[in-house]
Amino acid sequence: MNFNPFFLLSVTGPQVLLVTSLSCSVELFYHLLPPSARVISATSVASGEEYGEGSANAAYPYRANRAPRALGFAHSGEEKDFGYRAMHGSVELGKAMTEEYYGRKISYSYYSGASTGGRQGLKEAMISPNSFNGLLIGAPAWKSSGSATDWMVRGTAYPSACLTPSQALTVQNIYSDFVAEGRFAFPGMELSSESQWNFLVGGASPMSFGDAYIQYFLYDDPSWHWTQWHDSIVWQADEADPGNCTADDYNMAQLRERGGKVLMYHGLADALIPPRSSILFYERVAEAMGGVESVQEWFRLFMVPGLQHVTGTAVDAPWYFAGAGSHGRLGTATFSTPGFEDARHDALLALMAWVENGTAVSELVATTWKKSADASSGVLRQRPLCPFPKRQNYLGAGDPDVAESFGCV
Ligand SMILES: *[C@@H]1O[C@H](CO)[C@@H](O)[C@H](O)[C@H]1NC(C)=O
Ligand SMILES: *[C@@H]1O[C@H](CO)[C@@H](O)[C@H](O)[C@H]1NC(C)=O
Repeated sequence: MNFNPFFLLSVTGPQVLLVTSLSCSVELFYHLLPPSARVISATSVASGEEYGEGSANAAYPYRANRAPRALGFAHSGEEKDFGYRAMHGSVELGKAMTEEYYGRKISYSYYSGASTGGRQGLKEAMISPNSFNGLLIGAPAWKSSGSATDWMVRGTAYPSACLTPSQALTVQNIYSDFVAEGRFAFPGMELSSESQWNFLVGGASPMSFGDAYIQYFLYDDPSWHWTQWHDSIVWQADEADPGNCTADDYNMAQLRERGGKVLMYHGLADALIPPRSSILFYERVAEAMGGVESVQEWFRLFMVPGLQHVTGTAVDAPWYFAGAGSHGRLGTATFSTPGFEDARHDALLALMAWVENGTAVSELVATTWKKSADASSGVLRQRPLCPFPKRQNYLGAGDPDVAESFGCV
């Protein structure tokens, strides 16, 4: 056993607090767990183990009767658990457990999380800059009021046949920034996100996350109905920010000062969280902290062509680079990028090399396979991902399925 413990926290979505796998039985640590905690499964943790010794998975307490309303909690204080409290408690607990088990201090702490997990990681870095040395953040839902109300507003049904003029307007609205009462509220979707629109606008009524946010988070009124929607709700949600969920302390100087690094990515084909919201976040951090060039020293953003929400592709785009939450898509026992287990092809290894060796991540290589989520089917193509604002560019010659045929400009 290698006695260089670090603690990897992995979050994939609404789950129970999960603490597991320190190469020993979790029962050992039950006395440390809060009464609301239950251990469920170790899927996203299993892949984390091979990166180091300790691994844990945390989210907010899960209430079965609210399960379909993944975002919904009445105003009982639980919205704070969702916002930041469950995460912070889990980090402290995970660290205490890791150190108790190994009998020594943790060398490095990393975070890997996407979607709501991405938001939770950013939020943790804001409320507690010492929690992590490095954070791998995928497609973060960093602005809760923005995502949730966006899901409401864009959630109007559309049929699969030809579009009427009003349906065409709906489509245009999906791509456009959402402007409420004359003010910019949240970015719209990108071209190429269409393959995931079904999630957002596939039903006869708005997506339930949006509904639930307003019913259980904002108003504590399950009888609220989406037909009561008004654009002013966006600004009410912004102002109230129930649970203090939104991760918008853009000045992350404390994290930077201690040598912390953030590696963030977002799929351009994501139709759940608009990719431009990550660019917006990045630009706001840059604005607060000396500009994009200076921010590149500790925080890099990679936009990923063809990647859907967190994992997967509908167009055979290279989508996999061992990002937060994507191992499970290839099979829960997957470690790194099968066949390419190095920092160039694995975002978490790249982050570790940046934190521990000072090797800035100048590019990542994304991979897809003949069957996009089956590494045994053989590599179909690979492409470099570039730190924003650079983008991948075909060099004009060479096999377009080979990463070396592209550069970052
Ligand atoms: C809300 O979270 C921010 C970090 O994003 C923190 O600075 C602030 O103190 C928190 N506010 C409350 C009331 O907890
Ligand atoms: C740091 O560099 C050394 C020497 O090249 C290497 O052995 C080690 O794996 C690197 N550490 C990380 C976390 O990449």
